[in-house]
Amino acid sequence: MRAIESEYIFALTNTGSERALKLEVETMGLGWRLSYQRRGFVTFKKPSSNCYFSLCSLDHPLACARRLCLSLGKSATPEDAEGKIKLHPAYCGGPIHQVKFANRKMERMSGETLERPKTGDCIGTVVEFGPEEYWAGLHLHSPYLSPDPGGDSSIVMPEKSPSRAWLKLEEAVRFFDLDLSPKDIVVELGCAPGGVVLALLQRGISVIGVDPAQMAPVVLESAILERRYAPLDRPWFYHCCKPAALAGKRDLGKGVTWFMSDMNQSPAVVIKECERFCKMSPNICGVLITLKLTDLSQVVEKQQWFDGLSAIGFTHIRLQQLSVHHKEFTLLALR
Ligand SMILES: C[S@@+](CC[C@H](N)C(=O)[O-])C[C@H]1O[C@@H](n2cnc3c(N)ncnc32)[C@H](O)[C@@H]1O
Repeated sequence: MRAIESEYIFALTNTGSERALKLEVETMGLGWRLSYQRRGFVTFKKPSSNCYFSLCSLDHPLACARRLCLSLGKSATPEDAEGKIKLHPAYCGGPIHQVKFANRKMERMSGETLERPKTGDCIGTVVEFGPEEYWAGLHLHSPYLSPDPGGDSSIVMPEKSPSRAWLKLEEAVRFFDLDLSPKDIVVELGCAPGGVVLALLQRGISVIGVDPAQMAPVVLESAILERRYAPLDRPWFYHCCKPAALAGKRDLGKGVTWFMSDMNQSPAVVIKECERFCKMSPNICGVLITLKLTDLSQVVEKQQWFDGLSAIGFTHIRLQQLSVHHKEFTLLALR
């Protein structure tokens, strides 16, 4: 494929995350210069006169960007924007995602579930802002990138879910293409009332939930009273009804493979607990944490969180804001 260059790239964000994205880019020392901006849409100009963006410039993982595209510029009609993509030498007939700023957020236009692209597939994106403003962009699909238009899965939460956390888990699984199967056992800190637990049980995965608060009846239907008598023939839920700091080896038993946390605690507290749980359960191979921040600009501290997880032995670490998040990020770590 020819090296494709442009003076601009654009990022799609959640509404309200634009400033945090700019801070993140600045802290990473990328040299990108802020250019045009709208809600949910930030464009950056190339760092210097002789240094252009290419499709490879999009490899920088930016937590605040749900999608990063090489910009092909603005058009007055959707046909014109699509034309720019189709005429581009890097484009080989792959999907063209349609995204629109509507309902005060950047969302995909069609709800149909798309096939996951393969690594290296070149994908077009057309962003609609109004009757005469359409932006065209290109990106290459790669691991840990959302397969969905604008990073918006449009997954619908079942009515029986006791909380929106169901949606956050499902969106993270889709975004990162997580390999979660009924062979896994998950420990989740901050599990009440049980949206995540419900999503995992529906996937056939057993869960040890740690939280002093009450669980919803819909997940208690699968509850077992003692961890050591966990059944082998059905997914189960064991409620360890205490604060995370008081949970011990006996509560976990053997075979835990994933650590998850949705506690409303600081990143430092959550990562410290993650370290303790990984020591108690050495088979933990994946970590999925919802970080709740008081201010999104705390994203500039992300290297500290990555260092904490690297010290535990994790090698593939990603921080990502999902379309269903507000002042939150998902922190993923795999061995
Ligand atoms: C946002 S809610 C979690 C939602 C839940 N994951 C779900 O799927 O419905 C945050 C939870 O964290 C719990 N929490 C806060 N600090 C905690 C701690 N130190 N140990 C355990 N749970 C904690 C709270 O009791 C609360 O239920």
